[in-house]
Amino acid sequence: SLPCDIYAAGGTPCVAAHSTTRALYASYNGSLYQVRRSSDNATRNIGVLSAGGYADAASQDSFCSGTTCLITIIYDQSGRGNNLTQAPGGGAAGGPDNLAVATAAPTMINGHKAYGVYVAAGTGYRNDHTSGIATGDQPEGMYAVFDGTHYNGGCCFDYGNAETSNNDTGNGHMEAIYFGNIKVWGYGTGNGPWVMADLENGLFSGVNAGYNANDPTVSHRYLTAIVKGGANLWSIRAGNAQSGGLSTYYSGKRPNVSGYNPMHKEGAIILGIGGDNSKGSAGTFYEGVMTSGYPTDATENAVQASIVAGGYATTSGGGSGGTLTPGSSVSLRATTSGYTDRYVRHYNDQAITSVITSSSSDLDKNDATWIVHSGLASSSCVSFESKNYPGDYLRHQNFQVYRQHNDGSSLFAADATFCPQTGKSGQGTSLASYNYPDRFLRHYNNTVYVASNGGSHDFDSSSSWTDDVSWAVGQPWV
Ligand code: AHR
Ligand code: AHR
Ligand code: AHR
Repeated sequence: SLPCDIYAAGGTPCVAAHSTTRALYASYNGSLYQVRRSSDNATRNIGVLSAGGYADAASQDSFCSGTTCLITIIYDQSGRGNNLTQAPGGGAAGGPDNLAVATAAPTMINGHKAYGVYVAAGTGYRNDHTSGIATGDQPEGMYAVFDGTHYNGGCCFDYGNAETSNNDTGNGHMEAIYFGNIKVWGYGTGNGPWVMADLENGLFSGVNAGYNANDPTVSHRYLTAIVKGGANLWSIRAGNAQSGGLSTYYSGKRPNVSGYNPMHKEGAIILGIGGDNSKGSAGTFYEGVMTSGYPTDATENAVQASIVAGGYATTSGGGSGGTLTPGSSVSLRATTSGYTDRYVRHYNDQAITSVITSSSSDLDKNDATWIVHSGLASSSCVSFESKNYPGDYLRHQNFQVYRQHNDGSSLFAADATFCPQTGKSGQGTSLASYNYPDRFLRHYNNTVYVASNGGSHDFDSSSSWTDDVSWAVGQPWV
């Protein structure tokens, strides 16, 4: 069954259910969202392919062909009319906020194409006149599926409960899921991003304001994030929306700062902004709900299983499943924790890693796309030709890797040939240098080398070597 069927069975029904990718009830057969095109300002509702099914992305594609579409309404599937529309100005920033570009967050879901809600800084959705959403200290639950690789340090990429006045009305007047790496109020381990709770005038990662050691950096490409709150009780949970279960990062008393117990929730709903319409934040939303009542962990675990079964997957461009078949194009993504949004690309003729996303420029996407060839020095290995510099290949020189034109020499052929094997970390693919077989394509300080595991150069450092030499071969960016 689908998430809102599971919450209902658990006695904590959805009172708001938003998704641009799929139905969240098995019986839902209505519109998921509305788009508006710039050519003539006409709008179209985008529905599901069948009851309980996936978004009719082809309908958006045909309506928006040759023009630009914005997402104007994200419909509430719960029947309560808690739709999200363009957020108005608020205490922290004027408005109305920007609307999301409808094609900016393509995804696959169970083999169907769909689009998420891509929030760039300045984008925001809100509903200040809701029905059935928790107020005061009433209990509620929330989950959302985000793109864990799209975030920033601005305030505040939120989904959940906020002020009905668009102003900061004080501690405890919000209860929303936050995702990003701003450290102003709270944070967890590593460099972020973190799932935290925006409770107004504070993003909380545990019982204390500031640092909490149990809230890890979490950046799954598809991330399930949960915040729930009841009487002197709240919790943060999260997991990989593509596999596995949820972890609980916090469950316990309200923060030990005055104003948050009891809570003073107001029951508006926000997406992509803070309670006072702070809108410096970025992120991508695929689906999310708010419930009446404090869901049990067991209910949420079943919801997570349903999300995983939903089958989120990337489209082309960084998606998994690229193969090192001569003639095909691929991307090469780092797998080292904290760097998994980086891809091998050329820049000023050097090979480096850069963060590439579906919204990167065409230039960046071309720079990060490689055509696989049978190895210039050996047909049992491969070479990588630059997509936008035909005839140029990845080659090492003094053990650093560059994009250079094939000069036809045997040295160039050898320097540009890499022999694939199972990733040294157990993940992905490692690429041994043909002429220095104990050296592997490696990123180090975001620059690409052929590096040995321990050696005289800095970039031969053993620390994180196995991860740094293990690459996810993915779909090409162009
Ligand atoms: O709690 C963090 C932020 O502080 C809220 O989202 C916003 O309303 C205020 O600026
Ligand atoms: O990268 C190591 C060696 O340095 C290459 O084989 C050669 O091109 C350069 O001298
Ligand atoms: O390339 C980024 C990181 O830089 C590598 O993971 C690490 O080896 C080095 O510190």
